[in-house]
Amino acid sequence: MKICMIGTGYVGLVVGACFAEMGHQVICVDNNPAKITSLQNGQVPIYEPGLEQLVERNVQDGRLSFSLDLAQSVASSQFIFIAVGTPPAEDGSADLTYVMNAVQQIGASIHAYAIVITKSTVPIGSAERIRGVIQEELMKRGLSELDFDIVSNPEFLREGAAVEDFLHPNRIVVGTDNSRALEYMEKLYLPLTSQGHPLVHMDIASAELAKYASNAMLATRISFMNEIAGICESVGADIEWVRRGMEFDHRIGSYFLSAGVGYGGSCFPKDVRAIIQSATERNVPTHILEAVDKVNHKQKKKLYEMVVSHFGEDLSRLKLAVWGLSFKPETDDIREAPSIETIELLRQRGVNIQAHDPVALQNAYQALGEENIKYFTNPYEALMDADALLLFTEWKQYRFADLGRIKSLLKQPILFDGRNLFDPEMMKEEGFVYQSIGR
Ligand code: UDX
Repeated sequence: MKICMIGTGYVGLVVGACFAEMGHQVICVDNNPAKITSLQNGQVPIYEPGLEQLVERNVQDGRLSFSLDLAQSVASSQFIFIAVGTPPAEDGSADLTYVMNAVQQIGASIHAYAIVITKSTVPIGSAERIRGVIQEELMKRGLSELDFDIVSNPEFLREGAAVEDFLHPNRIVVGTDNSRALEYMEKLYLPLTSQGHPLVHMDIASAELAKYASNAMLATRISFMNEIAGICESVGADIEWVRRGMEFDHRIGSYFLSAGVGYGGSCFPKDVRAIIQSATERNVPTHILEAVDKVNHKQKKKLYEMVVSHFGEDLSRLKLAVWGLSFKPETDDIREAPSIETIELLRQRGVNIQAHDPVALQNAYQALGEENIKYFTNPYEALMDADALLLFTEWKQYRFADLGRIKSLLKQPILFDGRNLFDPEMMKEEGFVYQSIGR
């Protein structure tokens, strides 16, 4: 099968490389010349476990290539995937400028039956808009009779586990309004469905909403647990035990119940706000979703509030060490990361920051610059003479850190732990002033 993947961000690159791995012929297109050149030279611009090897192997085997030429790539493909960014607009809705730009070019380039598939998370109703734009372009070219189908095939991959998630999906959601497109999609995914991964077929609007609803549900679980963590603190309970008391109930399950410094990343915050916006436009109330978003905003300030309540209002002479800048482990992504927002707040109060992250230093440097912040490639060097350590991301190396060494390097043994990595009793015995979430 011949596939054109428009957009080589996280989703486009991972999905493109994985389709090639499944045996399809894939051409990935982007309008960024530097990105395409570096990909053609085998350099993958993002940190994603397993991706570089996958790209290298499939390029070598001739199944995966990269191009700047959208028109030609589209014209030579049967399946055209749209995986360009949908950044949030000012009102929280998804900005479809890049999507619609790609769609227009698709309409201007196809000359035989093609399936146009949305992989980007697009607002409900986008498929119909896309259909309209393609029809308009075809009409301009005198090709209004040319047949094409629109499919919604949302992606559920997690950063840090994206390749694994794509090749071993819990489900493949396919939204179509006709059986021809469904048959094509079934053939495309046969290498996965034949291994028992289910393909769930539904109408287009439901598929579009299924993506938002899934992310919003997971975000809801997190905000719910963060709210319960607040109650734990006030009644002297421990959220980790409360969680354990819940997760063995099969109806609840154990995933996405960890309290912490709030959710970040490119999906949850953006998608929760986008679904609220979508509903509000249609006069549908969104009490739960608004609360999820509100709780998360508050939670992201949790470590900042711990610092203020411990050190008082004057923070100007403080030096604080920060471990973990990415929004979660196994990624260099710092989008909407609680660490970045907290560092901004602390710097405004005159705090000096000494930061470490195993892979996100470069991205953090681009976002935060050099004012009142130093970056360290060794986590222990970041602790030197700091008044306290703030921990934002549960990287494995932090979980197994040398507590004695932390204690000896900090000016005072104070640890504000946003991911509950350590046992409070043990930390007390080790001589730490230790504060975590919901305990
Ligand atoms: C998410 C969805 O999981 C994925 O299906 C979708 O396609 C894109 O959005 P991702 O953003 O990569 O993936 O990260 P995920 O692992 O889901 O974590 C999101 C955020 O929630 C992180 O900030 C993480 O720290 C936080 N989180 C997660 C918690 O605070 N507690 C939990 O129990 C789980």
